[in-house]
Amino acid sequence: MKTLFYAICCVGLLWPSGLRAAEDDESMNRFVSSLLKKMTLEEKIGQLSQCAGGFATGPDNTQLSRTTDISRGLLGSMLNVSGAAETRKYQEAAMKSRLKIPLLFGLDVIHGFRTGFPLPLAEAASFDLEAIKMGARCSAREAAAAGLHWTFAPMVDISWDARWGRVMEGAGEDPYYGAKVAAARVRGLQGDDLSADSTILACIKHFVGYGAAVAGKDYNSVDMSWGHFANFYMPPYKAGVEAGAGTVMSAFNDFENRPCTGNEDLLRGLLKEKWGFQGFVVSDWGSVGEMVNHRYAKDQKEAANKAITAGLDMEMVSECYARNLADLVREKKVPEALLDDAVRRILEQKYKLGLFDDPFRYCNEERERTVIGSERSRREARYMAERSVVLLKNEGAVLPLASSVRRVALIGGLSKSQKDMCGSWTCADESKVVTLYEAMQKRGVEVDFHEGYDLESNEIKDLKGTLKAARRADVVVVAMGERAWESGEMTSKGNISIPEQQQRLVTELVKAGKPVIVLMMCGRPVIFNEVRQQAPAILCTWWLGSEAGPAICNVLWGDYNPSGKLPMTFPTHQGQLPLYYQYKSTGRPYASSGWCAKYIDIPSEPAFPFAFGLSYTTFEYSALKVLPGDGGKVHARVRVEVKNTGRYEGEEVVQLYVRDESASITRPVKELKGFEKIALKPGEGKEVVFDITDEQLGFYDNRMNFVVEKGDFTFMVGTNSRDVDAVSYTLL
Ligand code: BGC
Repeated sequence: MKTLFYAICCVGLLWPSGLRAAEDDESMNRFVSSLLKKMTLEEKIGQLSQCAGGFATGPDNTQLSRTTDISRGLLGSMLNVSGAAETRKYQEAAMKSRLKIPLLFGLDVIHGFRTGFPLPLAEAASFDLEAIKMGARCSAREAAAAGLHWTFAPMVDISWDARWGRVMEGAGEDPYYGAKVAAARVRGLQGDDLSADSTILACIKHFVGYGAAVAGKDYNSVDMSWGHFANFYMPPYKAGVEAGAGTVMSAFNDFENRPCTGNEDLLRGLLKEKWGFQGFVVSDWGSVGEMVNHRYAKDQKEAANKAITAGLDMEMVSECYARNLADLVREKKVPEALLDDAVRRILEQKYKLGLFDDPFRYCNEERERTVIGSERSRREARYMAERSVVLLKNEGAVLPLASSVRRVALIGGLSKSQKDMCGSWTCADESKVVTLYEAMQKRGVEVDFHEGYDLESNEIKDLKGTLKAARRADVVVVAMGERAWESGEMTSKGNISIPEQQQRLVTELVKAGKPVIVLMMCGRPVIFNEVRQQAPAILCTWWLGSEAGPAICNVLWGDYNPSGKLPMTFPTHQGQLPLYYQYKSTGRPYASSGWCAKYIDIPSEPAFPFAFGLSYTTFEYSALKVLPGDGGKVHARVRVEVKNTGRYEGEEVVQLYVRDESASITRPVKELKGFEKIALKPGEGKEVVFDITDEQLGFYDNRMNFVVEKGDFTFMVGTNSRDVDAVSYTLL
């Protein structure tokens, strides 16, 4: 018996997952190759085409005009349809086609599905990769139960410009952190097995550089060198691909004077050849056709030619492929082998999802009823929401509120708005959102609600009544900021300041003499200098989703001690934009006066630096040291002691920054190269050790080679990108 057991174990060991995967790949290849052989040219082109159902997320929507193509086998995918019943309807049509190739259903599931999670930018503030992964897993679980196979997420575009409305959809300004978040999100969405009924395909977008649109204007041109791209923008795309993302979306913008959608150096060269990406590339909404607007193609036929040649596999919404590829092949302008490669990539993902075994495996109405909006989803959404809040100011330890605080003057219509709480670009069920107002009432406190200002005009409303409520209350909580729809796609702003009247209201409320706590609700860094100076306590709550109310209450009353850090620098003035912490030294480094990089009319310092965030407790950093490495991959170790010196249990994000003191190309003043989130009880201390490997010391040269150069480095450790202690190190 023992021998048999041993033999079974050995077989297990001798049959590692690598071998099993190779087996799987082989059967997939056989299956896909034989299917490809049976396909007509038109059927192949069908697989490369995606049309929109339900609703539009861009202009010129052909909408349902193409649904008749489904049963003819001339459509490979649909976006913007969801729900087990709805997707089943279309899948049944696909099953009537000659080869019965299942459709792929995609949707922008960006921050939770029916259970809304915090905005991606807010989640990034948690610096908690496990929590972020959990959020993605929850989105996948719910989306997969609603018939979906694919989300157009995560957006991994780095942006330094808060004017760009889409910053809400990313992980902020830092490429190192952005790369970690990208990988966590892909792993959360796809899991280990795409065919499981709780995982969906991820899509790394927008490839590339979309967040660097000139002047923060959505859809604008992008101008950057490969060397700049490699160090500051590329890491999250690469990390997402390395984490196994099955798809990548090409960006609307141009890169090196060619639209990304028709850029062979990017799609075929970098992504498919250099990185070995095996999945498929989908265009952005209509971006193949838009190459005509870019004046990069004279007509749709040329656009189709340039896109397929560049390595763009599936066309979203515009119909350049459907209308022109067959002619291009017959005229021998496009080799059919290019189409075969694109079709193969798409079929492979369908295979991995298990759709050829059962095209209806995701259309299960029973599962849809039990999984969506479950207690588990709500719990996870609340957990994520609490960790996304950033404490920006807490003068006189106004927060956390004592349990004796019973009467709250709650000011601001945003605190009651279910729609806004969801944040922009949401799939959440609005009617199930628990607002702050509702959560406070449930908590049993006496809530005296006043609008304070008009949500449309931002004019102060009933100041007298509002001040009266403030005077009568134990504390004043003001919900203010942007409306949810003010961030997201197509919402670039020339002015990111919080309206003057909203800010003045806070100044008036402070005069009422009661502690004022401001909740800044926003989808991007915003400017609020007056509030910053006047209000004793400020929490950045972004938009937190279905459990926003309970999460904010838990933070206000200290059931959860805030631990978030800003994933983007908050400016004091529009003129500072684009603003980021990892700027270069320049030949005339920044100083406040003299012949140096500065403004004469505004400060250069931000309102809040990158990765800033306070806690109800305090942390003390000490004994920063460089220790020897392991003689192998670890060149050195940086050690620091962190102690909780306050009264509350809390979490701290311990951050490591590196500066290369002299290199063969100009390098930033500092770059985040490590972080660890630790939990400490009052009085407790912990040692945090960062390994210094090539990842911490190296960079990409102008030819995109990753190099590690010997010489001097400075390691900085601290609680945010500004407040750090430093030690020197030399790589010999
Ligand atoms: C956005 C993409 C999105 C697509 C489909 C486009 O407008 O740029 O990020 O995935 O629409 O909704």
